[in-house]
Amino acid sequence: MASRGGFTSRIGFIAAAAGSAVGLGNIWKFPFEVGQGGGAAFVIIYLAFAFILCFPVMVTEIAIGRKTQKNPAGAFTALGFKKWRIVGLLGVLAGVLILSFYNVVAGWAFGYFIEMVQGNFEIGKDFGGFTSDVVKVGGYAIVFMLATVFIVSKGIAGGIEKASKILMPTLIIMMLALAIYAFTLPNAGKGIEFYLVPDFSKITIPVLYKALGQAFFSLSLGMGALITYGSYVSKKENIVTAAALITLADVSIAFLAGLMMFPFVFSQGLPPTGGPGLIFATLPGIFESLGPVLGIFVGSAFFLLLSFAALTSTVSLLEVPVAYVVDEHKVNRKLAVWIVAIIIFIIGIPSLLSNGASSFFSNFITYIGADKATDFMTFIGHIANDSFLPLGGALIAIFAAYFWKKHNLNEEIEQGFPGFKGTFVEKFIDFSITYLAPVILIGIFILTVLDRFFGIHLF
Ligand code: PHE
Repeated sequence: MASRGGFTSRIGFIAAAAGSAVGLGNIWKFPFEVGQGGGAAFVIIYLAFAFILCFPVMVTEIAIGRKTQKNPAGAFTALGFKKWRIVGLLGVLAGVLILSFYNVVAGWAFGYFIEMVQGNFEIGKDFGGFTSDVVKVGGYAIVFMLATVFIVSKGIAGGIEKASKILMPTLIIMMLALAIYAFTLPNAGKGIEFYLVPDFSKITIPVLYKALGQAFFSLSLGMGALITYGSYVSKKENIVTAAALITLADVSIAFLAGLMMFPFVFSQGLPPTGGPGLIFATLPGIFESLGPVLGIFVGSAFFLLLSFAALTSTVSLLEVPVAYVVDEHKVNRKLAVWIVAIIIFIIGIPSLLSNGASSFFSNFITYIGADKATDFMTFIGHIANDSFLPLGGALIAIFAAYFWKKHNLNEEIEQGFPGFKGTFVEKFIDFSITYLAPVILIGIFILTVLDRFFGIHLF
């Protein structure tokens, strides 16, 4: 353990794992997915998936990581199941793909910070112009990748722990204040209604798989990020409480982001279906309404904190392939960080170009039966988040329940949680990874592939 480094304190692990979970997924992606997925019905399904499926998978991932003290691929081998390495490799690949576009969006958030500092609230009306400016967004993406490289090369405990502890609480306080302000705006009620009053007729196959993909993405699950973080956790840690806290924190912050966003969106008369540009189009106008001085202050603080939230997530995304390369190919950590980061940046170039700069990547693929083309970045999201993560989650659950076996999982959890066996949580986690997760996840995976790639809509 000492040679790989580890978290120095209990709160350090929780803060870092929560830092991984809380990011653009909560504040940028969740609101626009809810907006496109029809509102409250999506929210309910997302919450159900998070608690029923994701929480047990999270406990399992952390336990596998702590037991083996390995990267996702090495972990399966270390447990004696060499063939299952493929699941870890799938996770490493998912991490690479996700970071390739996530870094671009993180660059946008950072770019908006710069715009807000300059008092340029008009940028909200020209989000497309902003993302098409390759030199600018490319530059921001480079800055962001460099910041990630800097933290990851310092090693897990030194870099990641410290940043998460201070910045996350600040972001939460700021969002609470903004949510309260949102309630006072005209038409706030309409936004709240959209967000909280469910219309169950809106539940379709895409809503199911989008909510599932969102839950896994937001909780950083299904690709071994938490196997990797778990590998740095002390045996004294109670994994179950840690996972419960992380799940609760992540879900609450996403929920809060929605409470803030929908009143804002409706008060500005914008459509909730605005997609990836939703927060970028909506928020500048809101900050402007605060008056020039307060507007610049709140606007720049918000996008700066959002950038930090994104940074604690990009760090965990880069850590997965880096831990893999360091452990499995015995490469020195610093070198591994640079090589992996450069490769991921290059893979991210089409995503960088896919929001206006290149019409080829902006209209990359047209699904069967779809009326308009999907851009490259969204397409990669469909593959990596919506397909790989739930599939990875299913395989991790199946692995733990049927191959590694429950008593081994329980034994690992018992360290740090004496008396775990026989508790209600133990039964719940067991039931979820043995039955619920495999059936629901594989079921939805099949529906997703049929729906999206073959145009077959079963309901
Ligand atoms: N959970 C992060 C977010 O919500 C994204 C992420 C996904 C990080 C998967 C690590 C692994 O922004």
